[in-house]
Amino acid sequence: MTSKELRKRFLNFFKQRGHKIIPSSSLIPLSSTVLFTSAGMQQLLPYLSGEKDVVKDFGTRHLASYQKCLRTGDIELIGDDTHNTFFEMLGNWSIGQDEKGEYFKEKAINYALNFFCDVLGLKRERLWVTVFSGAKNIPPDKESFEIWKKYGILPSHIRSFGMTDNFWGPVTKEGPCGPCTEIHYDRGEEYGCGYPDCGPNCPRCQRFVELWNLVFMEYNKKLKTKNSYNRTIALKQASESFQYEKLPQKNVDTGIGFERLAAVLEGKPSVYETDIFWPIIQEIEKKSPVNYLQQKRVFRILADHLRAIVFLVSEGVVPSNLDRGYVLRRILRRMIRYSTLLLLKGVWYADCLKRIGEYYEGIYPSLLQNEERVITVIENEREQFERTLQKGMKQFKKLIEFKLKNGKPKIIRGEEAFELYETYGFPLELTVQLAQEKNFSVERENFWKTFKEHQEISRRGAEKKFGGHGIEKIQSKEEKIKITKLHTATHLLQAALRKVLGSQVKQQGSDINEERLRFDFSFNRKLTGKELKEVENLVNEKIKENLAVKFDKLPLEEALRSGALAFFREKYPSVVKVYTIFNPETKEVFSKEICAGPHVRTTSQLGHFKILKEQSSERGVRRIRATLE
Ligand code: SER
Repeated sequence: MTSKELRKRFLNFFKQRGHKIIPSSSLIPLSSTVLFTSAGMQQLLPYLSGEKDVVKDFGTRHLASYQKCLRTGDIELIGDDTHNTFFEMLGNWSIGQDEKGEYFKEKAINYALNFFCDVLGLKRERLWVTVFSGAKNIPPDKESFEIWKKYGILPSHIRSFGMTDNFWGPVTKEGPCGPCTEIHYDRGEEYGCGYPDCGPNCPRCQRFVELWNLVFMEYNKKLKTKNSYNRTIALKQASESFQYEKLPQKNVDTGIGFERLAAVLEGKPSVYETDIFWPIIQEIEKKSPVNYLQQKRVFRILADHLRAIVFLVSEGVVPSNLDRGYVLRRILRRMIRYSTLLLLKGVWYADCLKRIGEYYEGIYPSLLQNEERVITVIENEREQFERTLQKGMKQFKKLIEFKLKNGKPKIIRGEEAFELYETYGFPLELTVQLAQEKNFSVERENFWKTFKEHQEISRRGAEKKFGGHGIEKIQSKEEKIKITKLHTATHLLQAALRKVLGSQVKQQGSDINEERLRFDFSFNRKLTGKELKEVENLVNEKIKENLAVKFDKLPLEEALRSGALAFFREKYPSVVKVYTIFNPETKEVFSKEICAGPHVRTTSQLGHFKILKEQSSERGVRRIRATLE
C-alpha cells in the first residue's frame, strides 16, 4: 500500500464514522508559548481544555486530520529507522464526551484496532500495546488493559509503563494531559536483541516500533497556586511543584506517526525506504560517488533535514540565532556538514526539491512554489557556515601537527573531537574521515561520553528552549507573571511621581524584565532622598489599599480627552486600551494610562515596591530602577 493510499484510507475511515476532517494547521502555532507545532492536537488545545466549545466551532465533537509537525528533541537520533525532525501525524479526536457518552477508551481502542487490522490488514499478533501503570496519585489504567484483552490482544503483549512512557502532555508546562495507551508493531525477531524481556520501549533494540498513541485526556497539569501573602516562598515552590487536576471534560487525542506506519505497510525496514523518502535518497545517490548502503545514516539525515528545511522555509522561517530561526539554522548547518561527507557539490539538492514538491502536491500545494526561496536560504547559509568550517579545518590541522611534532599517539581524544563538534560544527563522522586520511584514529566512545556529559549540563537550559513536546520559549509562566506585576507597578510609579513632583513628569521610556522595571521620565534635576522615599511610600500605600485595575477600549481621541496619559513616542491604533487603577469603593482614580497591557487585576498582588536607583538618563530625563519584593 502506498503512503498516499494510507492517508486516504485513514481520512475515509474516520469520515465514515462521523468525524469531521480538519486541515493541518501551520507549523508555526498561534500560541506564542511554543516554537513549533509538534502534535495534531495543538491547534485543538482550547477545545481540549474546555475553554472553547468544539460543537459550536466544528459542528461535532469528532475530528480527524493529518498534521505537519516538527520535533528536534531527538535530532541526534535521526538516521535510525524511525525518527524524523519534520513528520506528519494522523490523528482522531473525541472532544468532551458526546450525548451518549460513549466515545472514550473503549471506542477509541476499538476504532484503532479496526483500522489497523481490518482496513490495513495488520496482523493482531504483531501488535503489542502499552498501558499506564499509575503514578503521582493518578491511578493505573486497568480499563484499557481489559479493553485490549477483550478485543483480542494477547495479555502477554500488554505491558505497563509509568509517567515517562505512558502519560502524555501537556504540550508546555501546564495544560491538558492524561494517561496514554500505545500500539507498537513487532517488526520481527531479526530486528530484536533476543533478550526474554524484549518488548515495546526496549532499551536495547528497535524491534518494536511505536505506531499509534491514544491519549485519554482527563487531567490538567497546573502550577500549584500561590498564596499572595507568602509570595517569595510560594514562587520558589512554584518552580517545581505541579498538580494534576481533573479537566472539566474527557477527551480522546490520538496520533499516528505517518511515516512509520507507511514503512510497516510498504514492508520497508525504515521510513527512508518508503515512497515518501526513497525518491529523495535516489536523487542524492545520483549526485554522490558514495552509495546509500555505504553511508545509510548520512543519506537519511540529508533527506530528513532537507524535507524539514523545505517546510520551514515555506512557512516563512529564516535562519537566525533566535528561537525558530535558530532551529532552522541548526538543521541547515547539520545538513551542510553531512553533505560534505557524501562529497556533494553545488546545488546538489535541486532535484530532491522537485521530488519533495511532487510528493506533497495536492497535500500541501504551495510547497513547490518555494523552490527558489529554499535554494537561496540554503546557499546563503552555506556561505556563512563555510567560513566557520574553514576555521575548524585549521584547528584540526594544528591538532594533528602538534601531535606529530611532539610524538604523541595518533589518536584524537574524545574531548578533542567534541571540541571540533561544539565549536566548529564537525560531526563525529567528519572528524573520523579526516583523521583516517592522516592515519589517526578517533576515540568515538569518549566523544559520546563527553557529548552526554555536556548534554546533561545544558539539559535544563535546552529543555527550556527546545525540550518538552512543544519546544518551549524561554519565558516561563512564572517569568511572565513577574513581568505583568512590574508592568502594573510602572503605572503606579508614574502616578506617584506626578503626585510628588508635579505634572511635568511624563514617561519617556520603559523597560521591564523579570528582575526589575526601568522607567525614564521627563524631569530636570536629581531627585532628593526624601522625594524618592515619598514616591516609594505612595506606591506601597496604593498597593496596600488593594486598588482595582481595569481597562476600557476607547477611540484614541476619547481616551486622550478623558485625561489618560499617553507615551507619545508610540504610534497608537485608532482604538486603544485605557488602564485605570482606582479605589473600587470611593471610585477615586489613582492612575489612568493608555497601554496595551497585560496587568494584574488588583494591586495587592504586587507585594512590596522598592526603588533601587535614580540617575540621569539623558538631558532633562531621569531614570528609576525599581523592583517588587
Ligand atoms: N498528543 C499525542 C502525541 O503527540 C497524541 O496525538 O503523541
